[in-house]
Amino acid sequence: MNEMKLYLGEVFYFTDSPLLSAENIVYEPDSALCVCDGLVVEAGTSAILLQKYPKAEVVDYQGSVLMPGFIDAHLHYVQTEITGMYGRQLLDWLNQYTFPAERAFADTDHCREISHAFLKELFRNGTTTAVAFSSVHPQSADILFEEAFRYNMCMLTGKVQMDQEAPEYLCDTPEQGEADVRALIQKWHRKGRNKYVITPRFAVSCSPAELEACQRIHADYPDTYIQTHLSENKGEVDFVRTLYPDSPDYLSVYEKYGLLTDRTLLAHAIHLSDSERKRIAKAQAIAVHCPTSNGFLGSGLYEMEKANEAGMQTVMGTDIGAGTSFSIFHTLGAAYQVQQLNGYPMSAFEAFYKATLGSAKALHLDQEIGSFLPGRMADFIVVDYNSTFAQLYRYEYLKRTQAWNIENLLFGLMTHADDRAVRATYIAGQCVHER
Ligand code: GUN
Ligand code: ZN
Repeated sequence: MNEMKLYLGEVFYFTDSPLLSAENIVYEPDSALCVCDGLVVEAGTSAILLQKYPKAEVVDYQGSVLMPGFIDAHLHYVQTEITGMYGRQLLDWLNQYTFPAERAFADTDHCREISHAFLKELFRNGTTTAVAFSSVHPQSADILFEEAFRYNMCMLTGKVQMDQEAPEYLCDTPEQGEADVRALIQKWHRKGRNKYVITPRFAVSCSPAELEACQRIHADYPDTYIQTHLSENKGEVDFVRTLYPDSPDYLSVYEKYGLLTDRTLLAHAIHLSDSERKRIAKAQAIAVHCPTSNGFLGSGLYEMEKANEAGMQTVMGTDIGAGTSFSIFHTLGAAYQVQQLNGYPMSAFEAFYKATLGSAKALHLDQEIGSFLPGRMADFIVVDYNSTFAQLYRYEYLKRTQAWNIENLLFGLMTHADDRAVRATYIAGQCVHER
């Protein structure tokens, strides 16, 4: 057994949804997280744990919050270089900026360089688990898995499958794509903490044969995941209607090929009918809200309240590179603004839940990540809630007026914080980033 460590700070995590009960919110000012062999032993009052584990090495993070690392449930590692490209909506943006950038991932040196930079950027922002698109090139997923494996990180990714409506240099064939994906699954799925995600880009770029290939693969490996895009942009929705005229709506294209499952992540899911929401909920599929991307590309406003009412699971994604920030704090702040425009002032608890335990549960990974319950992997972050002057003044004011509490703390983070708030990031008990 390795040495036990006690991290002192202000432990914060959820045991279940805060929308069900306030008792599912755990916050303790003078507390500690006890970690051994990369796993959470327990979290609790620091005085008690210091007495219980007198030989543990103590790491002092008092004055900072210790919380589970973020789960970024939708982003494109191969778009790390192209955030903030001016002036177009989805389909033009893909053609003008995205496809040329992804072309470079044919080169393994480039895959290596960007994989490395991408993981560092996640850690700097407190993200410890990602569900990421690679490019169409199998080597892009292979190398990202390899780099994530080195950190013992929980990485979910897959090579994009696409065979139409894109430049030839970025298309596979259903046959070659299927062979490449099967080889990647054999090599990487459940190796270390890696998980394979079958990745048909979206209905526009997939022929029926491509979608059938994805269906066959998932039938053979039912514990893999599936990720795609759904109803992000009105022009895209219209295009899908012309490409799949026999499908009554966008979602039914994926349903027809068995791709709407309880392991399916649907990025954006903005322009939905009530029927689509109901079917997503029934399948227990996962909608990924990507608010900075949706604002940036002018895609629309995700309807969180309607999704909640329909019983859909919503989780959070940055959607780099249409998203404008790797920071989940920024993403939650942007989500709040989107929901305000919808007349639904989403609480800070709901926001943080959807980026931690809520996301872990939706992914069937809550035994591994998302909380500090005993036995979970010690993927956690140390958060300075006064990393900017605006936060400090706000803190002093709230203290002075006796209004300082965990909800205000969290709301301040989602309004103000960025990578400067992340003092340290730990993956499986190892420090991978420190400021
Ligand atoms: N739809 C299909 N591909 C993409 C992509 O790369 N980014 C976004 N935002 N939407 C997509
Ligand atoms: Zn995307």
